[in-house]
Amino acid sequence: MVNKIAEGGMATVWKACQEKLDRVVAIKVLLKQADSDQQEYERFIYEARAAASLIHPNIVQVIDAGEHDLFLYYVMEYVPGPTAGDLVDSNGALPEAQALQIGLEVSEALDYAWRDHRVVHCDIKPDNLLLHRNGRTKIADLGLAQVLGSEGVAIEDDMTLGTPNYFPPEQALVEDTLDCRTDMYALGATLYHLGTGSLPFGDMSPEEVASQQVHGQIPSPKEINPKLSYGFCALVERLMAKDQQHRYDGWEDVMADIMRVREGGMIRAPLSGNIRSTVEHTPLPANMNNRGNKIVRKRGARPAGSLNSGGQPIHRTVNVNADALSRTRANLVKEKPANIWPAVLLLTGIATLLYGYTFLF
Ligand SMILES: Nc1ncnc2c1ncn2[C@@H]1O[C@H](COP(=O)(O)OP(=O)(O)O)[C@@H](O)[C@H]1O
Ligand SMILES: [Mg+2]
Repeated sequence: MVNKIAEGGMATVWKACQEKLDRVVAIKVLLKQADSDQQEYERFIYEARAAASLIHPNIVQVIDAGEHDLFLYYVMEYVPGPTAGDLVDSNGALPEAQALQIGLEVSEALDYAWRDHRVVHCDIKPDNLLLHRNGRTKIADLGLAQVLGSEGVAIEDDMTLGTPNYFPPEQALVEDTLDCRTDMYALGATLYHLGTGSLPFGDMSPEEVASQQVHGQIPSPKEINPKLSYGFCALVERLMAKDQQHRYDGWEDVMADIMRVREGGMIRAPLSGNIRSTVEHTPLPANMNNRGNKIVRKRGARPAGSLNSGGQPIHRTVNVNADALSRTRANLVKEKPANIWPAVLLLTGIATLLYGYTFLF
């Protein structure tokens, strides 16, 4: 043991040296002693095996697990660097690009965990995301991770496990429908916290928070941090949809949308304002369409009678696409000389008539 890194309600984490291999490791010792009937020990070993089977650059690697004087412990790779939670605690909101990069790496890891191992983490939050000095994000704390059988049952008793500020309604209600979309909601809450610096439903008791996850709402991220993009707000709103079926079907879709937002765009299918999300809807400004492109009014086009989501009259829209714009411009230039002639002829006609009228009378 080298030194204590962290001490929580359930476990102590130590920096340690694995002498035979001469390498630094982390050891997590659970504070609760195992039952003498070994039932808890067996459950712990089952969980440790599930965690150890996950081998991914964005997941803390479990090296060993066991029991010493009835204390259960995990040995893991040591990750030098703060957690995303430490960073937001000391600096406030992270830049959007950094929050999105963390979100992308977490999605890659959870895609692998779900697709190849049917594992749901169940406790995704900034405190469980370690930011390695080399820039990589690593998911830690797989203690609550569930391996879902084909029947999809995850929770054995009626106890709600997890962290209420980040968990979805189905986890608050102890439903047996947990799946990859459960972690998506927690990733949404994590991005909200990282992007705004504000903990979802902070300053409430855990029971109140759990109830708010089912019934309540938090302000639009843009209200707290106006620098956030509309794409970021729409991403978090969709990840935190109350109903699992309104989130994403799979992690690939989440990753594709994170990349769209990173490039300054809008997500592929933003939730309409009438679908319930824990995050308040962020209406798009009047001059933006729902692809995140600025709306430009086509020259001479008449305003249409309908309204857009911002309650403003909309005009005929074209996407700002460089190719299309240059083609439109070229056409305008080409058509100009041809358009002059009818006017010239008309004017000449009128002049002739006026002249004739004056000459005759
Ligand atoms: N592999 C690791 N390398 C370095 N620090 C770690 C590692 N695992 C955990 N920690 C530190 O210990 C803290 C608590 O670890 P965690 O596994 O999340 O336990 P808890 O169950 O108490 O939340 C983390 O927030 C992090 O600061
Ligand atoms: Mg933790």
